[in-house]
Amino acid sequence: MPECSTREFKPEDLRRVCEIELRSFSHPYPCQLFLVYYYLFPKLFLVAECDNLVVGYAVGVVENGDKGHLASIAVDENYRGRGLGRALIEEFEARIKTLGVFKVYLEVSIRNEVAISLYRKLGYSVVGLLRKYYPDGEDAYLMLKELK
Ligand SMILES: CC(C)(COP(=O)(O)OP(=O)(O)OC[C@H]1O[C@@H](n2cnc3c(N)ncnc32)[C@H](O)[C@@H]1OP(=O)(O)O)[C@@H](O)C(=O)NCCC(=O)NCCS
Repeated sequence: MPECSTREFKPEDLRRVCEIELRSFSHPYPCQLFLVYYYLFPKLFLVAECDNLVVGYAVGVVENGDKGHLASIAVDENYRGRGLGRALIEEFEARIKTLGVFKVYLEVSIRNEVAISLYRKLGYSVVGLLRKYYPDGEDAYLMLKELK
């Protein structure tokens, strides 16, 4: 089994992050957007790395000074189911708390059972339904967690 860990994103990781993004979503974020996130909150842009290969990322921002937004998370399909998604979110939460933020929200497609299951296990609850949230007209759940 490869050795895996999480760390802060570096600009040289961008190519791999964009590859994972493209393969993971039918409506991927434009690659440049990741650099915007990086410049806004570098400490909240994390990657998972296994044997020197970037295999996943989580990225987010602080809004209005007190609300965390987990903007996106994805793990390379060959590395899913090994706890990396969970590790990325736990690290994201630990870091955002050091910024004095104790609430994190996210959006997830109502059809994305794997992600919803992960978020629920980590303590996120559905607090709203966002109709036609995605470009293909798919609805999203708004999920929220109060951090302890
Ligand atoms: C969602 C995603 C990031 C999870 O990453 P991961 O590294 O596979 O997740 P983990 O291994 O940490 O799994 C944690 C939990 O997710 C759920 N899960 C993971 N793989 C699953 C599967 N194949 N089927 C059902 N649930 C699954 C389980 O609840 C699991 O908990 P467990 O380990 O106690 O069983 C990953 O599946 C992914 O990149 N999906 C495509 C992109 C995406 O949908 N991102 C979320 C957008 S909101």
